[in-house]
Order: sequence, then C-alpha cells, then structure tokens
Amino acid sequence: MALLIRNGEIVTVGSRLQADIYVENETITRIGKDLETPPNAEVIDASGKLVFPGFIDPHVHIYLPFMATFAKDTHETGSIAALVGGTTTYIEMCCPNRNDDALQGYQLWKSKAQGKSACDYAFHMSVTKFVKETESQLRQIVADGTASFKIFLAYKNFFGVDDGEMYQTLELAKRLGVIVTAHCENAELVARLQQRLVAEGKTGPEWHEPSRPESVEAEGTGRFATFSENTGATGYVVHLSCAKALHAAQEAKARGVKIHVESVLPHFLLDKSYAERPGVEGMKHVMSPPLRAKHNQAALWNALAAGSIDTVGTDHCPFDTEQKLLGKDTFVNIPNGIPGIEDRVNLLYAHGVKRGRLDLDRFVDAASTRAAKLFGLYPRKGTIAAGSDADLVVYDANYRGVVSAKSHHVNNDYSGFEGMPIEGRPSVVTVRGKVQVRDGKFVGERGRGKMLKREPSHF
Ligand code: URP
Ligand code: ZN
Ligand code: ZN
Repeated sequence: MALLIRNGEIVTVGSRLQADIYVENETITRIGKDLETPPNAEVIDASGKLVFPGFIDPHVHIYLPFMATFAKDTHETGSIAALVGGTTTYIEMCCPNRNDDALQGYQLWKSKAQGKSACDYAFHMSVTKFVKETESQLRQIVADGTASFKIFLAYKNFFGVDDGEMYQTLELAKRLGVIVTAHCENAELVARLQQRLVAEGKTGPEWHEPSRPESVEAEGTGRFATFSENTGATGYVVHLSCAKALHAAQEAKARGVKIHVESVLPHFLLDKSYAERPGVEGMKHVMSPPLRAKHNQAALWNALAAGSIDTVGTDHCPFDTEQKLLGKDTFVNIPNGIPGIEDRVNLLYAHGVKRGRLDLDRFVDAASTRAAKLFGLYPRKGTIAAGSDADLVVYDANYRGVVSAKSHHVNNDYSGFEGMPIEGRPSVVTVRGKVQVRDGKFVGERGRGKMLKREPSHF
C-alpha cells in the first residue's frame, strides 16, 4: 500500500525541509510540498513533528553465548525493542568462539534472525581465530553480503585474537575491501590484573573497572590503529569509552590512518559509580570496556559533536539479574553487558540534542547516516531521499517520559538507565513503508525484517 507522510520537518544530514514524503512499494518515490493524496494511500499527519531517517544501531548482540550463559533477547524481542525506540536497522555481532567453526557459526547466527526480526538487520562477522580455512570461509561470508569483520583484542582464549591473527585479518580485509571493527583492550593485561585483584580479595563489581583501566584500552586502541596503518586496512574501534583511548584514535587519524570510532550509549550517560553500587546493583552495570570516571563523558560528548567519534551504538547485551549473580563471588564471572537498544535514540536526543551537546544534524549522522556510509548501506538506509528504503521515524519532540524496565520491550528485568528522563519519542516508525510502531507500541508485522546484503567498499 502507498503511504503519504504529510507536512513533517524532514531532517537529514545537511538539510531541513518542511514537506511531504510519498512511499510506494517499500521505497520513497517523492518528496515535496503539498503532494497530491493518491486514492488508497495511508496518510500520516506529521505536522509539528520531526521526520528522521530510520536509525541504525551498528553494534548489538542478540544471540550471544558468552560467559557461561546467553544474552536474553531473541530477534523477536530485540527487534521490537529496537523499533519502539526508533531503530529500524541493527548490525549484530556474529560471535562464534575460538573453538567453533566460523562458517557454521555464521549460518547459525543467520538462522536465529531469519523470519524473526521485525526490523532489517546485517552482521559483522567475528574472526576469533585465523587458521588454514579462514580465508576461504571469510571470502564466502563476504560474498554472501556480510562486508565487515569484527575482532576482539580482549577475551583471551574465547573470542580474542593474538597480534598475528589480527594482522592476517586486517591484511585479508584490505584485499577484500572490508572494514574491520575491533574491541580494543589488551587481553594479557586484563587477565593479569584480574588475577592480582582477586588474589588481594578484591572481588566485588567495583573492581571490574580497575581490572581493565583506561591505559589498557588506550594500548589496545593504539595497537589496532598501528596494525591498520601497516596493513592499509580500514579500522573501526567499537565502544570507545575514555579520553585516553580517544587520544590514541585521534592521534592515528591525524597521521592519516583510516580509523573510525564508535562510542556506545552507556559511556555517555553512566559512570563507574554505577558499578560501585553494592551487590547486584553494581553487577548490572558491568560491561567492557567498563564504565569510566565521570570526566570522560565530556570528552566523549565533545568528540561526538565534532565528528571525531563517528557513530553512537549501544553494544546492546542484556543479562538479567539472575545471570549477573553468576559473578557474586568474583567480578571476573559477571556476564559483561548492558541493554540499550530501545533507549539509544531517545536518550541521545534528550541528553545530547536537548542539552545542547549535539546539533540535530550530527545527531542524525551519528545515530544513522554515518553507520550507513561506513557499513555499505547508504543511500538505501541512513537518509530520506527518492529511491531510499522508506524507513522513517516521525518523532514527537513534545513527549515526556522516563526509561523504565516496567515499560520497556527488551527481554530483561532491569534497565541500566532506569529513571532517566526522555524528552521525545517516535510516534510512528516505518520499515520499508510499513508502519511498525505507533506511540510506543509495536503494531506491525513480526518477522518482516530482511538481512541486508552489503558490498565491500573499503579498498
Ligand atoms: O560488555 C560487553 N561489551 N559485552 C558484550 C561483548 C562485547 O565486548 O562487546
Ligand atoms: Zn566488545
Ligand atoms: Zn559488543
């Protein structure tokens, strides 16, 4: 069915325009003032509202076997939570571990999403070892439309790669034109510091941050940048959390290394005092890299405003209270991760745009357009233009509410952002022209989401 979104303020990177958007067969076909309403078109009145391109979360975990358990969401629950929060596409980390076969892992991750996700999705393929068959397997995966890799410098003996494997991955990525995303913490130092702290009887969640200090992340970031530089590959640092690591990335950018930076919602809004709360309340705020000292937040906001942090993701990774308690005897066993897929857009708008930290243009860029460009989705996704997929967010900036696990759609019994105010929310969300959300409620079609095939573009 055709859809006409009437008289909204259309916000894209570099442009703001009061106009109508006409959608046919999943695609935007016309943008203009006072477009005629064709018979049978569904009409949405967007007067007084902003209209954004569908938001893209470049870093989520939905299916994730990790730390002796599984992240809580499925693609059914995670995609609905994403859509209610205005995210119409997410890129999931496909994370087989070192003992798994990469190709079988890739098929498994695909099978978990196929026919289940209500929003569109893609994958970053984790390279968790580099053995004889890795190159041919990765070539098949890229040919299947997954044109980005992920490596972990952390999580020794599980997801983590050594320097040789990092080199081989980057070198192959350069030849294939594939961007490599990386979790940048020094695995050896984390393991040694964990051992030392536990031996000293320092076992509560408040010791998670000291076991992975800023210097450990800065070292990983700098080393990843150096390897990108010397292979010529394009790198993308995920969930950068602190000023020290930011300096390492900026220093590399300044000398011409092709390196991009993502920071994730928790690091902008939460600080390490959350993980220092007693007992399970602290455990709920354990993620890696850890929540940092508060002064880092200003550095992240400033870099985001300036564009030297390219994107904002979530690293959505829900573990419930019972799972967090796996680490009651030692922080080393607390499943790492905080959910955020539903909250990213609203909290970024409220605490970024409304507080004057971020202009609207950069907000759209960081939460949608830049990820589309970096990951081979643009201009199909990430903008509002004739020919683009009709993924649209009609945004009610007058809405007032708070984040709460009582009302969220994420399959988790708590929210890391509980009680935080929001000042705006999506009133209508469409995926390829179909209304999936109205005013905080999923009203759409489950399983509508498609896997997005992407071409390599980083030669
Ligand atoms: O704490 C985190 N970030 N959990 C998910 C795995 C990862 O490192 O991305
Ligand atoms: Zn990570
Ligand atoms: Zn992650």
